[in-house]
Amino acid sequence: MNIVVIGTGYVGLVSGTCFAEFGFNVTCVDKIAEKITKLQQGIVPIYEPALDDMVKRNIKAGRLSFSCDLKDALKNSDVVFIAVGTPTKKDDGCADLQYVYASAKEIALSLDDRYRLIVVKSTVPVGTGRKVAQIIKVNNEKANFDMASNPEFLREGSAIEDFMHPDRVVIGTDTEKAQKIMAKLYEPLSKDNVPLLFTEIETSELIKYTANAFLAMKITFINEISDLCEKCGANIRDVAKGIGLDSRIGSKFLQAGPGYGGSCFPKDTLALIQIGKEYSSPIRSIETVVSINEKRKKDMAYRIIDALGGSVEGKDIAVLGVTFKPNTDDMREAPALDILPILTKAGAKLKAYDPKGMDEAAKLLKDIEWTASSSEALKDADALVILTEWEEFYKITPTDLKKLMKGKTIIDLRNVMDLKAMKDEGFTYSCIGC
Ligand code: UGA
Repeated sequence: MNIVVIGTGYVGLVSGTCFAEFGFNVTCVDKIAEKITKLQQGIVPIYEPALDDMVKRNIKAGRLSFSCDLKDALKNSDVVFIAVGTPTKKDDGCADLQYVYASAKEIALSLDDRYRLIVVKSTVPVGTGRKVAQIIKVNNEKANFDMASNPEFLREGSAIEDFMHPDRVVIGTDTEKAQKIMAKLYEPLSKDNVPLLFTEIETSELIKYTANAFLAMKITFINEISDLCEKCGANIRDVAKGIGLDSRIGSKFLQAGPGYGGSCFPKDTLALIQIGKEYSSPIRSIETVVSINEKRKKDMAYRIIDALGGSVEGKDIAVLGVTFKPNTDDMREAPALDILPILTKAGAKLKAYDPKGMDEAAKLLKDIEWTASSSEALKDADALVILTEWEEFYKITPTDLKKLMKGKTIIDLRNVMDLKAMKDEGFTYSCIGC
């Protein structure tokens, strides 16, 4: 089976590469020529563990190729995935579907009358699959195709692992033929006992938003409980453990922090709110989640200022981690983007280090000195702020901190350090929910 994937962002590139790993022939198509040229040489434009190797391996095996020419790629295709971005529209919070619709039109203009299965993998509002089908029909009367929806649930930083070992695969289809093709595509997973859930197209589209909104709500809930813990003397780690052991709740996504970020939760919660409004069925719980999370990210800056006695004017602050989570170089909606500008505006002198995100962060954050290591950022600092829980930060000991820093204030927004060890060593240690 020959697969074409349109869009080489996180979802498109990882899915395409993993389908090639399953043994299918895959062509990934993108309009950005520079990106395609790099990918043809096996150079992956994003940081994602294990992706480089898998891309190179599948190019070498002749199963994975990259192209800017959609028309040519479509010639021998059997299945076409649309995996382009659906960013938030600036004016109303809706998902911007211009790239999805443009892909649909381009597909239509390139298809002959041989049967194809067109699958929307991008996260799209309910009804988009039907609109894509309509666009194809209007632009090419001869087009012979079925539509499917197949949302992706992989996370940045563990994308390959998530794609290869998902909890489930959700597939929305209208016809038996489409179902059979999708079942064949995911056979390597279903053979491994991964459930394939077949639904209507609309249901499949809504499952994706519902999952992301629910997870964003879970995080926001535990974040609010962490605030309560700080006031009443309870410990959030144990509260999270205590409720997470209840299998009805589950232990994942209960890590309190500075607020969720990334390219998905902020965008998809806003889009779900708009979908609810459009159908006169408001999702008030998620409206509240969005406003709590927005406020929380900014509040973290004031928490840091408070921990430093009410002013950061002229203070040297080491910042460890700026990406929205570890194992990615992605800065989209990272709490750092809300927190750090407030600190620089208040007169703080920031030295920051992030293992992978500094190139991207330097484009978005001004007045920050970027350092080559955590030790360099910590040298002579009055305070340390931890914004992202990169593995290497867990290895920093109180002795290291004592040696390097001038001051003794630590604000750990990811609970990386050990509370007792920090207090024993005389640090003024502020963490989340304890
Ligand atoms: C999220 C979903 O987890 C994926 O299932 C989904 O496929 C993806 O969005 C998408 O729609 O494409 P991602 O944004 O890559 O994945 O990252 P997550 O690991 O979910 O983290 C999102 C944010 O929540 C991060 O800022 C993270 O720090 C925060 N988070 C996560 C917490 O604050 N606490 C937690 O316990 C977990």
